[in-house]
Amino acid sequence: MLNDGRHQALDTGNNSEITRILFGEDEIRARVRELGRRITEDYRGTTPVLVGTLKGSFVFLADLIREISIPITLDFISVSSYCGSSQTGAVKIQKDLDESVSERRVVIVEDILDTGITANYLMKWLRARNPADVRICVLLDKQARRRVDIAPDYVGFEILDEFVVGYGMDYNQQYRNLPHIGILRP
Ligand code: IMP
Ligand code: MG
Repeated sequence: MLNDGRHQALDTGNNSEITRILFGEDEIRARVRELGRRITEDYRGTTPVLVGTLKGSFVFLADLIREISIPITLDFISVSSYCGSSQTGAVKIQKDLDESVSERRVVIVEDILDTGITANYLMKWLRARNPADVRICVLLDKQARRRVDIAPDYVGFEILDEFVVGYGMDYNQQYRNLPHIGILRP
């Protein structure tokens, strides 16, 4: 679903730095429910491990797992490649997985696929640990900015090249608590 810029009018209350809401709570909930349903079907009979990337994906992950009705386990990995909204290029693992993913079916859960550099690095990192398979589930896909060849297996929404915050996503660690996804005032 490509968001083409016909955004709804704003009522962001205290969050006046948000100029436009891209996706409201109801729209997000419906889409996350659909992703959970698909993961449930695709992984039936197995117990996948969902690997959330801290911190941006934690809200999405929390909602997503409650829409999955097969057994799963959960792990977190923390990588950094950004400072503010500009990319430094370097990917660094700041917190590794707690459990082994050997022989496990792994689903990386990411907030945004932007250049794809982070997810590409994570894919390689995880594949080197002998998993049964690795897939990627992203809430938002900014295809226009892709710099490496990586295609997510599950996508919530495709978005244009705009910097978004809310629903776990930040700008300088702020705005993660917004229930919707919006664009910051420049
Ligand atoms: P990539 O390596 O360029 O694909 O960067 C992916 C990561 O950058 C995401 O997981 C986010 O944490 C962060 N990021 C990219 N675009 C945005 C944005 O618009 N808002 C907030 N974080 C972003
Ligand atoms: Mg992230």
